[in-house]
Amino acid sequence: MPNAPDWRALLRAARPLLPAPALLTGGSGRLGQELRQLLPELLAPARDELDILDPGEWLEHERPRLIIHAAAFTDVAAAEKQRDECWAINVHGTRRLARAAAACGAFFILISTDYVFSGDEGGYREDDTPGPVRNHYALSKLAAEEAARAALPPGRLLVIRTSFRAREWPHARAFTDLHTSQDYIDRLAPQLALAACLAERMPFDTVHIAGPRRSSFELARERRPDVQPASRLEAPVDLPADVSLDTSRWLAFIREQAMLLG
Ligand SMILES: NC(=O)c1ccc[n+]([C@@H]2O[C@H](COP(=O)([O-])OP(=O)(O)OC[C@H]3O[C@@H](n4cnc5c(N)ncnc54)[C@H](OP(=O)(O)O)[C@@H]3O)[C@@H](O)[C@H]2O)c1
Repeated sequence: MPNAPDWRALLRAARPLLPAPALLTGGSGRLGQELRQLLPELLAPARDELDILDPGEWLEHERPRLIIHAAAFTDVAAAEKQRDECWAINVHGTRRLARAAAACGAFFILISTDYVFSGDEGGYREDDTPGPVRNHYALSKLAAEEAARAALPPGRLLVIRTSFRAREWPHARAFTDLHTSQDYIDRLAPQLALAACLAERMPFDTVHIAGPRRSSFELARERRPDVQPASRLEAPVDLPADVSLDTSRWLAFIREQAMLLG
């Protein structure tokens, strides 16, 4: 992308602004591991130390000033069969953690997903109406957003909708007719870490942080040049045509902050 911000340089400049102590849930996950490398000062207790379904005691003791909530039930296919477990972790877990955050005065960041949109039109902006969702995972993440909004006072919540995948493209084929703003995790994690440092400065409660809109095939070819084209209509599950996110709010905010950060 021409003139793309130098995300790592911005993160270096903004890092002193990260509130301390800051808690990361889901620290053993795909995103969590990347964030811990970029921001090693994050407290990242394992699930057996801090279960998000019962967060009160840990939060009362540690009293974080910021919570980055990345823990979730993320297996979309399994969520169809384990609906109760997915709902408990994503909705009840988020609600309990957000209420505990409100009780100790912590700012709360919820990592959410492009899947809250139907994927029929693409180019979704933060204020677009979500849904209709395509699966139970997406429903639970949308409900999690609303649970967090209900639990936190104004100005103490940031919902970040994003879409990422592992560093490599694992498949031999990729869809030419599925458009997305998904990006590789190593490209997006510095932006998400930067957003955590600057979250309390944001004059909005929802932001889209993702890559540029392109087909899955174009995304795949960036890291696997021999990938072969395929159609989403061949997939065994119903896939959206275009679930891309409009990221202009984030980019405008960062342009403004870049000047302040020098
Ligand atoms: N992956 C994507 O493409 C994508 C796209 C958009 C948004 N997101 C969102 O981004 C966030 C991170 O996703 P990810 O792919 O990095 O997740 P992931 O690799 O599936 O990891 C999930 C994390 O949640 C933790 N966890 C689950 N239940 C928990 C509980 N009851 N208490 C405490 N921790 C619990 C897991 O801990 P254990 O290791 O102990 O199981 C693990 O650390 C999620 O909110 C997800 O919805 C993901």
